[in-house]
This record gives sequence, C-alpha cells and structure tokens, in this order.
Amino acid sequence: MSSIQNINIIPEPVLLNISSGKFILTEGTRIYSDQELLKLSECLKTLLLPATGFNLIVKETKEKIGNGTSINLKLTDTDRKGELGFEGYNVEVSSKDINITAPYPVGIFYAIQTLRQLLPPDIENCSRVEEIEWQIPCLKLKDFPRFSWRGYMLDEARHFHGKKIVKKMLDLIALLKLNTFHWHLTDDQGWRVEIKKYPKLTKIGSKREETQVGGLFSKKRDGIPHSGYYTQEDIQDIIDYAGDRFIKIVPEIDMPGHTRAALASYPNLSCKGYPFRVSTHWGFHKDVMCVGKEEVFEFIQNVLKEIVDLFPSNIVHIGGDEVLKERWKKCPDCQLRLEKEGLKNEKELQTYFTNRIIAFLNNYKQKIVIWNDALNKNLDGKPICQYWLRRMKEVREYLKKGGDVIMSDFKFTYLDHAYSFTPLNLAYKFEPIPKKLEKKYHKHVLGLEAPMWGEYIPNIKRLEWQTFPRLIAFAEIGWTPKLKKNFNSFQERLNIFLKRFDIIGINYANLREVKGNVLKRSFKVFTLFIEQSGGI
Ligand code: ACM
Ligand code: ZN
Repeated sequence: MSSIQNINIIPEPVLLNISSGKFILTEGTRIYSDQELLKLSECLKTLLLPATGFNLIVKETKEKIGNGTSINLKLTDTDRKGELGFEGYNVEVSSKDINITAPYPVGIFYAIQTLRQLLPPDIENCSRVEEIEWQIPCLKLKDFPRFSWRGYMLDEARHFHGKKIVKKMLDLIALLKLNTFHWHLTDDQGWRVEIKKYPKLTKIGSKREETQVGGLFSKKRDGIPHSGYYTQEDIQDIIDYAGDRFIKIVPEIDMPGHTRAALASYPNLSCKGYPFRVSTHWGFHKDVMCVGKEEVFEFIQNVLKEIVDLFPSNIVHIGGDEVLKERWKKCPDCQLRLEKEGLKNEKELQTYFTNRIIAFLNNYKQKIVIWNDALNKNLDGKPICQYWLRRMKEVREYLKKGGDVIMSDFKFTYLDHAYSFTPLNLAYKFEPIPKKLEKKYHKHVLGLEAPMWGEYIPNIKRLEWQTFPRLIAFAEIGWTPKLKKNFNSFQERLNIFLKRFDIIGINYANLREVKGNVLKRSFKVFTLFIEQSGGI
C-alpha cells in the first residue's frame, strides 16, 4: 500500500483533524452539487481532469444515484452569521465521500483550493500522470480567514505585462486564497488603461522612449521604447476572469503626483503647462497635477467616471503618495486657490484636492483607498488608508477614529525589495495589527497587501522571482490565526507547495536565495537603490 502523503496546506487552516483511512479519487467518483454551485463543480472537474485523466460526471444533488464515491458541494445557511463568516468553509473526508459545505459560494471556491492541496502535487500536471493513486486522508477541516482584505498589488505602469501574465498571477493568488488584486495602472512612466474621452492618455501616455537602468541614481538608459495598455474590453475580460476566482480588482489612478504620463498627454493639467515626455526614470517627480485649475478636476472626474463604470468592485484607489509641492508653491493658480479657500499651506492644498475627489466618488457610492501620505485631519469622510511608510502615529490615530486601514509596511511587504532587505523569514514575521493597538480597534485593520512595484520587473521571470515565495508567506499571514503561525512549519509546507510551482512552471526564489546575500544583508537599506536583478 502506498503511504498517505503528509498534509501540507498553505495557508494553514484554522482546524484540522486527521483520522484513519483515505478517500481515493477514481474515474467513477461523481461530483454532486446544489444548483447554484454547478459552475463551481465544473471548475473542480476541470481542475482534476488534466492530471487524473478522469472526466468526472457532475450532477445536481437531487439526482444522486448509487453508492459510489462522491464529492458533494453544498451551501448551508446555518453558518451565515457564525464563525465561518463570508469566506469560510468545512471539508469532511471519509473513505466514501468528501463533503464540502460553506455559507457562501466563495467558501466553496476556497474549499476547492484546499482540496487541490490535499491531493499530491502531481495534480498540477497539465497532462495525465500514470501510476499514481489520487488519495486524500480522512479528515475534518474547518477554515476561515483572519482578515477580510488579503491583497496583491501589481504595478504595470513601470512595466506593462499584458493579459496573459495578469491572468497567470490571478490563478496563483486564487490558489493562495488572496481576494484582492490592486492594479496600479498609472504613474509617471506609463498610463495603461484606455479612457475613451481622453485618447491621448494611451496614444501618448502609454509609451516611453526608453527606460532607466542601473538603479535609482543611474543616468543610464536602455534606449529601448516601452509601451502597452489595456483596452476597456481587455479590462472587462480580466475583471470576469478575476470574478470567477472571487478576486475583487481595485484599480488605482494615482493622483495628483505620479502623473507625468498624464501630463505628457495633456500638459495643460500641470502648473507650468509646458510639453513633457513620459518619464524614463524612477523616483519622485516635481511636475504634478495643478490644483488651481478647474480643468484638472473636470479631467479627473471624467476619467474616474469611466473607471467607476468599468470596474464593478465599487472601490477606487486614488493614490496620493509622494506628492512634491514645489510647483504648487510657485504656481499663481495654485496660490490663488490656497488664498480663496483659506488654506494654510500646500499640504492642505493636497487635502482640498483629495476632498474634492472623495466628494465626486461619493456620488457614485464608491469606497475610496488612499496611501497614508494623503492622510490629514481635515480629510472628509473616512477613505480606507493603505499604510506603507512613515507617520505610523497618524495611522494609529486614524484607526482610533474608526478609519479602516490596510497594512503594506515597506519594511516587510514590498515585493520589489531585494531578498537581502526582506528575506523570507522577515516577511513571515509581519504582523498587520500595529503593536499596542487596543483590541477594540483591531477590526479597523482590514488586512494586508503586498505591493509588487515594477521598476525593475521587465518580464514574467523577474515578476515571479520577486513575488514568490514571499507572497505565499503573506497569504498565510492574512488567513491563518496568529497563534498558528509557525515559520518552521511554514517552511516544511512550503517545500511541498513549491513542488506544485515546479510543475506549473513558476520561477520562484529558491530556499537559499530567499535568505538574501550575506554581504548585501549588511548594507540593507542601500540595496534599495541598486537595480534588482535576481531570478533571470
Ligand atoms: C509608494 O510606495 N509610493 C506607495
Ligand atoms: Zn498649479
């Protein structure tokens, strides 16, 4: 008899009890499901087909016949207000059947991801694997996430990757039970989303002449043009793909800074109005949108109207990070605005700007996300704040006022950082709840997100190498109860998990590389200024 494989699930489930015996998946196994879960049953069947070669029959529960083995998918309303919450699920495996239950379809989807990990890694093969017994140990499993916001951010403004790569990443984040894809679509170096009212945004703004190479302070350029954007049709296709995986997409239109690509397309939106090129280098840029000119607000509102119409998530990220105020200080329009509105300084001018955008988006019943740089006591309403760097005190105050926060701490969660700066063990230590925050405010920490900034990510190999396995650690942090976190156990499970990635063909950093380079580790912060290049 072949031995039953160990159980290696990431993220580690909340409760798992293993008993004796095993379920064996055969071509006679049937999938029975509630009517409203038939699409998910088909998804399970499709998942199992290539490696097993079993073309399993899917039927509605009421058509159940015979007493062969089965996988049963069922929605239960008993747990709706209970512990399982919106995304939880139960799995019970006996030698005869596998019963999957959840209060909502998303829980069933996550149970399927767990089932996938209960099967041997060979299940990831895209062609039939011979001479293997597809067995699952008998067990009872109850599972639900610690946080409701478990995100991955992809910056395609710096490098455009295209639909195929985005879909591959969506597949992987779904396997990890992440539920949010934050799409950084605009920045100084590129505008990547079609806006029908402003065709120059993509005609001009999606192209740059060349790209900085050699790190943040380098004067070197590669001389190679870079371009690319998504049509609204492409975006719709990706939204549908993400929706099938229970992933919400949060589009980010960064403003009023990080807007050189927009200013290159429409220079009248700047303070100075002179022609710009789409930026070919990284870092902060002095030219930002002018807050004195009404046409800037008209432009942003028109852009956001198309974004709101396109994305069904009802959440828009409006950026607000790293806004240099130099131009505003010298711009007659901005200074007139300051005076007329009785604003004390340029920081308040940014808040005035943000408040107008918030008011506009409120009309469309959108939730709004801002980077923590845009926090200010005069901010209207309570946008969700995404914390990344500095001014943690202000973020704590915001939490105490009832503001919601997503944690993307620069030191732990930035996937663009060298492994020497953020080795895997440090990433795994990340705790989203700030130290000494009173329990009553914990609910305002919605969860975490790992940003994959794209300056040094020209291709999929680099993208995968920077992302994995650190994102696998963040998935566990976002899901698993704090008390169950254990780096040794994580590493053991990761070894098995990565066998799946070997079969799928993912270029992750190996277990030696994730420790970083001993020499570079002593330079820590300086590794941020050099070009990241591992994994190619
Ligand atoms: C950021 O990293 N500029 C949010
Ligand atoms: Zn101005």
